[in-house]
Amino acid sequence: MALQNLNVLLGVTGGIAAYKAPDLVRKLTGLGANVRVVLSPSSAAFVTPLSLQAVSGNPVHQYLLDPEAEAGMGHIELARWADVLLIAPATAHCIAKLAHGMADDLLTTLVLATTAPVFIAPAMNQQMWAAQATQANLAIIAQRDITLLGPASGEQACGDIGYGRMLETIDIAEQVDHAIATMPNVANNPLTMSEHHAVDDHTNSLPLQGKHIVITAGPTREAIDPVRYISNHSSGKMGYSLAMQAVEMGATVTLISGPVDLHAPAVCRVLQVQSALDMHSAVLNTVNQGCDIFIACAAVADYRVADVAAQKIKKDNDEMQLTLVKNPDILADVAALPTPPFTLGFAAETHDVEHYARAKLTRKKLNMIAANDVSRDDIGFNHSDNALTVFTPETQISLPKQDKLALAKQLLTIVAKHVSTH
Ligand code: C5P
Repeated sequence: MALQNLNVLLGVTGGIAAYKAPDLVRKLTGLGANVRVVLSPSSAAFVTPLSLQAVSGNPVHQYLLDPEAEAGMGHIELARWADVLLIAPATAHCIAKLAHGMADDLLTTLVLATTAPVFIAPAMNQQMWAAQATQANLAIIAQRDITLLGPASGEQACGDIGYGRMLETIDIAEQVDHAIATMPNVANNPLTMSEHHAVDDHTNSLPLQGKHIVITAGPTREAIDPVRYISNHSSGKMGYSLAMQAVEMGATVTLISGPVDLHAPAVCRVLQVQSALDMHSAVLNTVNQGCDIFIACAAVADYRVADVAAQKIKKDNDEMQLTLVKNPDILADVAALPTPPFTLGFAAETHDVEHYARAKLTRKKLNMIAANDVSRDDIGFNHSDNALTVFTPETQISLPKQDKLALAKQLLTIVAKHVSTH
């Protein structure tokens, strides 16, 4: 438990998910953290200071210009007290203020005044999350030492369905805990993520420093009706391994993931999607905001159901037919952008691996393709190990069977070399 005995400052802003704040305090204290809560002015409409004081065992902080509070623990002392600053829920308004460095209340002032790593767990209506202004603010934040946790997709308090739900409190607490475990000496010598990378850089130069990498991972789910879907066996392990290694190698990573049974690496921005069409728009929105390297590791469904039934289909007939239509090719669309990033695709083949991989490289106009032989039953889908042959128009390199994490590092090292000469 990396959070054991660490001081976590929990900022709560004014969305409906603020009612989960007492539960989040419990999850954090359950991991051994000392928690103090800062409420934004509007959050007190959703959760009472008294209940947060009771669960945290500490007074709740609310006002910047309160002489009494400043005489106790002033905002600079509070900023220094924190080993970790977590904002959950983070509203669209809070994200906008962070993006522009505003400091008009206690919480936003603390974000500027602290050297502790900052995590935010957004929560808002799906349309507000998708709004161009919110996405532009997130793109600014992605350049900073602020780690985004979620949001998740699902049914929202307002009845809408989509992205913007705050992650479950246990996932937030565990993701912060995992991320802190990768940041040595957070308690005694607080380093921001970039300082942390800079230290690494000093001893061991980071080949992907300063690069924004967008990675797709996992399967997609193509709905048949509200309860059924078409999908595949992709576990997401290769894409998630690439995301983790890319961060280790200094990159800023956006992981765009279909439904998988894996913990999202907390140090990445993670966008959870369901269908190929969702993944297509999430990728193009993200890549259009600035991307150096795009890695298409997802097993995207080639087809989707033409007419998704609005209600559960009844088994009234002995036979039924589904009409399928082709999904857009996300990787080819990114490679066809006017100024595309460096593109790496994957090719899962059962035979003539080189022939089909090279054909894909040319047809989709890629910089690189990593091919694996899915006819082997010891590697690939749902295994921890994999082996790859990496093709560029001019080169071919074989990476032998190994753990996907080790393989990801070798593959990214090859990518980094090509990008530096790209
Ligand atoms: O054409 P094929 O599906 O074999 O190509 C595989 C590569 O293309 C993978 O990198 C996969 O992530 C990507 N792909 C995609 N969008 C699709 C289909 C495949 O990005 N609709």
